Amino acid sequence: MIDNSFKKLKEECLKCVACNQLTKTRTNVVFGEGNIKSPLMLIGEGPGETEDLKGVPFVGKAGQLLEEALQDNNLTRNDVYITNTVKCRACDMVDGKKINRPPSEEETNNCRKWLLPQISLIDPELILCIGAPSAKNLIRKNFKITQERGLYFPSNYAKCIMATLHPSYILRKGGVNSSFYELLVKDICKAYYAAKELRSKRMSSTSIQLNSRAELF
Ligand code: URA
Repeated sequence: MIDNSFKKLKEECLKCVACNQLTKTRTNVVFGEGNIKSPLMLIGEGPGETEDLKGVPFVGKAGQLLEEALQDNNLTRNDVYITNTVKCRACDMVDGKKINRPPSEEETNNCRKWLLPQISLIDPELILCIGAPSAKNLIRKNFKITQERGLYFPSNYAKCIMATLHPSYILRKGGVNSSFYELLVKDICKAYYAAKELRSKRMSSTSIQLNSRAELF
C-alpha cells in the first residue's frame, strides 16, 4: 500500500516543474534512495553535480564520506532512507558552466510538497538532518549546528529529530582523520539506535493494543 503511494509520489516528483530555473538546469530530479521501511531518515540540503548526473542522493565525495560513516556503524545505505530537502541541483549558469549555489527559500518551499508526503509515507521514528541548512529548515531557523548537533529534538515530522555535521564540511576540515568525522559516526550511531528503539516500542505497543482488543472478543 505504502509502496504504491510512494511510487506514485516519486513519479509525480520526477516531472515537477515548480521551479523555472531548476527545471531548465537539472539533469535528473533526485528523489531519494534507500529503505522506505527504515525507522531512520537522513535528509541533506540538496543534490550536487554528481547526484544530479546520477539521480541518486549523496553519491559524490561527500556521499562517499557519509557512506563510510554508515559502514563504520555496520550500516549500509539500505538500512536507512536518504533524501534532501530540495530534489534538484541548485546552480547558476556562469559562462556556460553550472556553478552550485544554495537553494533559495522559494525553491525550498516549493519542494516541501514532495518532502512532506515523502516523510509521512516513510513515517520514520527519527530524522537525522545532514548539515546546518537541513537543520535550519526542519528543526529551527536559528539552529546552531556546532552546539546543537547530536541532540534530540521533538518534531512535527517524526517522533524525534537530530542534526549532524555535513560531510562536505568534514572534508574541508580534514576528512576521515579529523575529530569531526568521529562526531558524524557517533551521531549516526545515536540516531540509528534511538530510531530502532522507538520503532520496537511502537511495534510492541501496537501488539499490546491488538492483544487487548483480541481479549475483548
Ligand atoms: N550534499 C547534500 O546535501 N545532498 C546531497 O545529495 C549531496 C551533497
